[in-house]
Amino acid sequence: MPERKQLVAGNWKMNGLRADGVALARGVAERARGGHRCELLVCPPFTLLAEVGAALAGSFVALGGQDCHAAPKGAFTGCISTEMLKDAGCGHVIVGHSERRQTCAESDADVRAKTQAAWRAGLVAIVCVGETRSEREAGRAIEIVAAQLAGSLPEGAAAETLIVAYEPVWAIGTGLTPTTADITDMHAAIRSRIPTGTRILYGGSVNPKNAAEILALPEVDGALVGGASLNADDFWAIARACG
Ligand code: 13P
Repeated sequence: MPERKQLVAGNWKMNGLRADGVALARGVAERARGGHRCELLVCPPFTLLAEVGAALAGSFVALGGQDCHAAPKGAFTGCISTEMLKDAGCGHVIVGHSERRQTCAESDADVRAKTQAAWRAGLVAIVCVGETRSEREAGRAIEIVAAQLAGSLPEGAAAETLIVAYEPVWAIGTGLTPTTADITDMHAAIRSRIPTGTRILYGGSVNPKNAAEILALPEVDGALVGGASLNADDFWAIARACG
């Protein structure tokens, strides 16, 4: 079974102009020089990929995209292909984030096609899943996430090229998190449905205060961090809570 090294990934979402994005990337790279027990990844907006990539050069911090189109190229105004992400220095791409499932009406079939596109370009796909508050309150969280996995993961998934991020929609940007028992139950349910050795990240209001407790759970292989990834000290504090 491949070792599941923890990964702390920062999803900057639609934040960062050139000056502050580059300063943030430099801040993360500088702190990471001191050594750390996890893998680190930052996913800036497309406009910052080149400059953040340059700021991270020579560090152990990887670069990723936040989304992609499924096609390799063509008449898709405003879209970015996985080949373009690879060309820009990315090794990973986030697909199926709930903000895209909700605001861009992305379906499981779309996420599946994007995951295939990630693999076509040689990228690791970080596939996001998670239930809404009403789905959890109705006792349907595992059923919903299982259906998302079944619809979003293509044939041929492998631990080397797939990471699953469990992000309960109601925990994103709210300061709320599931109980550690609920995170463990969900991650175990996900694990039973994906290839052995595949990493499962938890995402949703991870911060320097709660990171140690969440990252200590044996089923949690890292974190996908939104708001707290926009501050180098906070992101680094989360990374230091690994392992
Ligand atoms: P927050 O950490 O801001 O809750 O966002 C989580 C997230 O959506 C990461 O993809």
